[in-house]
Amino acid sequence: MTATATPPISQTRRFPDDRGYFGGYGGVFIPETLHHAVAELAEAYREARADPAFAAQLAELARDYIGRPTPLQFAPRLTAAGGGAQIWLKREDLAHTGAHKINNAIGQCLLALRMGKKRIIAETGAGQHGVATATAAAKFGLPCEVFMGEEDMRRQRPNVLRMRMMGATVTGVGDGSRTLKDATNAALRDWMGSSADTHYIIGSVVGPHPFPMIVRDFQAVIGHESIAACRDQIGRLPDTVVAVVGGGSNASGMFYPFASDPGCDGVALVGVEPGGTGTAPGQHAAALTHGSPGVLHGALSYVMQNSDGQTADVHSVSAGLDYPGIGPEHSCWKDSGRVSYASVTDSEALAAFELICRLEGILPALEPSHALAHVMKLAPTLPADHVVLMNLCGRGDKDLDEVIRLLGHAETA
Ligand SMILES: Cc1ncc(COP(=O)(O)O)c(C=O)c1O
Repeated sequence: MTATATPPISQTRRFPDDRGYFGGYGGVFIPETLHHAVAELAEAYREARADPAFAAQLAELARDYIGRPTPLQFAPRLTAAGGGAQIWLKREDLAHTGAHKINNAIGQCLLALRMGKKRIIAETGAGQHGVATATAAAKFGLPCEVFMGEEDMRRQRPNVLRMRMMGATVTGVGDGSRTLKDATNAALRDWMGSSADTHYIIGSVVGPHPFPMIVRDFQAVIGHESIAACRDQIGRLPDTVVAVVGGGSNASGMFYPFASDPGCDGVALVGVEPGGTGTAPGQHAAALTHGSPGVLHGALSYVMQNSDGQTADVHSVSAGLDYPGIGPEHSCWKDSGRVSYASVTDSEALAAFELICRLEGILPALEPSHALAHVMKLAPTLPADHVVLMNLCGRGDKDLDEVIRLLGHAETA
């Protein structure tokens, strides 16, 4: 399947169109049984978006419950180690529950309440979206079931315990590679039979329209706050903005306010994909770098697939990046050239994980460690007055056991 011709950047600012397309990507590719649920959600979101009371409720929760705005922070020792550009960090790891995922989970729980839904389901990979959803569901008194691949339950065990502590049921998924793709399949299967009383809180800018738009809009607080804080603390916009791309939600939330404003056209936007252990199929999860347009989980976007169009196996050291697809808006940004995409390997991400612990006293998640690895390649090539802003989208408590196992640190084990 191929996407349509690439639109100019000026047109991409207004996407999605009313059919849910970002240029040639996105849309609604779902079984008949889900059409009503998706249409109901689109209508509820259209109304909520126009309702000042909804915006006020979300803003209050963002401030008082999530702890927003999250800080923008200069990283002096990383900057010195890079020996070039200034490195600034947007500290989404300091949001309640330790990652950006809570921005979307709270917003979608409010939508679920508006629609009168009585039950919440979610998929999770790294467990951060599962924790955020279990947390939001507990806050609003909604029962919650989270689907999680059995391999991810092993790698991200602390988050399984956190979800259960919040009262959620964590349902292990033993199909396929037992990771995020399989958990998403299980959640969609549940929703097909339960959508009358259940809302599915999807965790990234993926899935059928309107999910990619809704998740992007709830995450755009990251970019809006960053623009305001850069103007306030640095006196100008950053030169380059870097974020890791799994399904693409933290990057969308950071990039969208820059990409949608012509006043920010001079800011370079860079997404970093998981390069795994090599470039051969099955060794990485870099859908934009190595994939091709196809349909996965209800939308047309870049996907890792074999020559028959079957979704291919992928790999990343990071459970939150171990996914064969990517949000459709990223596919559009890639083709239009507004965002450029790079990839870094598992071992480069692990080295960056250790570096920021030692130099800044910050324990990052493995996901943003990928973005940092790229920043540490970029910074030495740029002058000292160049400002690189990186989205530090989650904290790494969940990854500690796995990182210690992989690095083989006898002294810390
Ligand atoms: C901390 C963190 N960052 C990034 C991601 C990747 O997701 P996305 O690309 O949607 O931000 C995850 C996914 O679980 C995550 O937990």
